[in-house]
Amino acid sequence: MSHIVVITMTILLSLFLLVVLFSVHAANFHKGLRGLSCVNDYVNNISCTWESSAATPRADCWVLGEQSTFIGRKLGVKEKIIESCKLKRHINFTRGCNLVFEKKKFSYNNVMPYIRVECNGTMMENITDYKPVEHIKMHPPGVPNVNSTANETIISWRPGSLPSKYLKTLSFQTQIKQKHQTWNEAIILSTLQRNLWIPAGKLKGHCEVRVRVKPILSYKNSNSHWSNWSNWSPTTSWTNEVETSQNLERLLSTTQLIILGVILGIILGIITVTVFLYRSCASRGLLKGKPLPNPSKYFHTLHSVHGGNLKNWLNPLTVSEAFFTAQPRDPISPLEMCESWDVAPPARLHQCPASLQHSPLHHLRLQRGR
Ligand SMILES: *[C@@H]1O[C@H](CO)[C@@H](O)[C@H](O)[C@H]1NC(C)=O
Ligand SMILES: *[C@@H]1O[C@H](CO)[C@@H](O)[C@H](O)[C@H]1NC(C)=O
Ligand SMILES: *[C@@H]1O[C@H](CO)[C@@H](O)[C@H](O)[C@H]1NC(C)=O
Ligand SMILES: *[C@@H]1O[C@H](CO)[C@@H](O)[C@H](O)[C@H]1NC(C)=O
Ligand SMILES: *[C@@H]1O[C@H](CO)[C@@H](O)[C@H](O)[C@H]1NC(C)=O
Ligand SMILES: *[C@@H]1O[C@H](CO)[C@@H](O)[C@H](O)[C@H]1NC(C)=O
Ligand SMILES: *[C@@H]1O[C@H](CO)[C@@H](O)[C@H](O)[C@H]1NC(C)=O
Repeated sequence: MSHIVVITMTILLSLFLLVVLFSVHAANFHKGLRGLSCVNDYVNNISCTWESSAATPRADCWVLGEQSTFIGRKLGVKEKIIESCKLKRHINFTRGCNLVFEKKKFSYNNVMPYIRVECNGTMMENITDYKPVEHIKMHPPGVPNVNSTANETIISWRPGSLPSKYLKTLSFQTQIKQKHQTWNEAIILSTLQRNLWIPAGKLKGHCEVRVRVKPILSYKNSNSHWSNWSNWSPTTSWTNEVETSQNLERLLSTTQLIILGVILGIILGIITVTVFLYRSCASRGLLKGKPLPNPSKYFHTLHSVHGGNLKNWLNPLTVSEAFFTAQPRDPISPLEMCESWDVAPPARLHQCPASLQHSPLHHLRLQRGR
């Protein structure tokens, strides 16, 4: 028994799922074209678009909307107002036009019996009980005004058209970007004021700004989904004045850069010169170590000319010419030899090595000293 119940349930569930899947598919299939949709400024202007392939492109299509308004002072006596506009083709299957009710301002209680589309006199679509308050899309704000000084940037804007007196609170969104960026990269700043104050330094260079608006409804049971953001306002571009201190900073950093560059250049130059010198020295073999001096080079005349007589070799003049010929009886005073004689204390002179006392150089000094 329970088996049968389970099987029945399974079959029913499968059927249900199939139906759900099919209806979702069908809904998606129709989603491509949205039919008639209308937004309004909550004053008197309804903007409708109709997206449909039902009518041929040449068809003569209109939107008609009905309002009712109380006439005179007598409650209960209503007057029907029907406005219409001719749908103009936009792109592909989309057409649009604006229904404007000159004598009727929208309010919270306003309910329109219908808004419909007719082509060649045949009704194509019918929206009933349209409540303007549930489909608000305001006109975009006017061109933003930018006042950029050294200290701050003030962006201000005016409403694109006078908003409904029932819309007390408006929320604004500004998008700011560098000129070369795309709007996707822009920063978004929100405010309830009609201006925005940005301290200097936050924005640099060539910037662009645009604004949009959306009402905040305070009615009981009102829903934030009832209204939509307006289109974006026109764009204003401006160039930020750079603060003087920033100028100074930039100048400083430029100077620092230059100094750094010069230092780097000098270091590079030193390295280059060093490498060059090393190369040229290496090529001349000077760096392979100084060869030990060969003493025989310097002493070759000692034997060839002076016959090994070191004294003659050191003093190549002939003995007669020598002005210091040391007579054996010459009282050579060893006291006057080592240091300059007018300063040196005599006690230290005894320490002079005896080998120095007879070198020709010392004889020379002695003679000149006399
Ligand atoms: C109605 O609104 C549309 C934009 O939504 C605008 O282009 C048009 O000028 C408005 N018409 C009137 C009469 O305000
Ligand atoms: C509407 O009339 C035009 C000619 O006036 C015709 O070409 C078009 O097919 C008609 N469209 C419809 C939806 O009847
Ligand atoms: C217009 O229709 C074509 C084909 O149906 C589509 O590829 C194109 O994206 C549509 N253009 C717009 C702006 O919707
Ligand atoms: C559109 O819908 C409304 C409300 O259901 C109805 O009163 C009106 O007759 C319809 N219009 C047409 C042309 O069917
Ligand atoms: C910009 O601000 C200065 C000082 O606040 C003011 O004098 C000037 O009128 C403003 N300019 C504009 C275009 O708002
Ligand atoms: C900018 O700020 C400085 C100091 O805060 C002030 O002296 C100067 O007047 C301000 N300039 C402008 C244009 O507001
Ligand atoms: C707001 O506009 C977007 C884009 O046009 C649309 O997808 C969305 O349905 C709109 N919402 C309302 C509440 O009109």
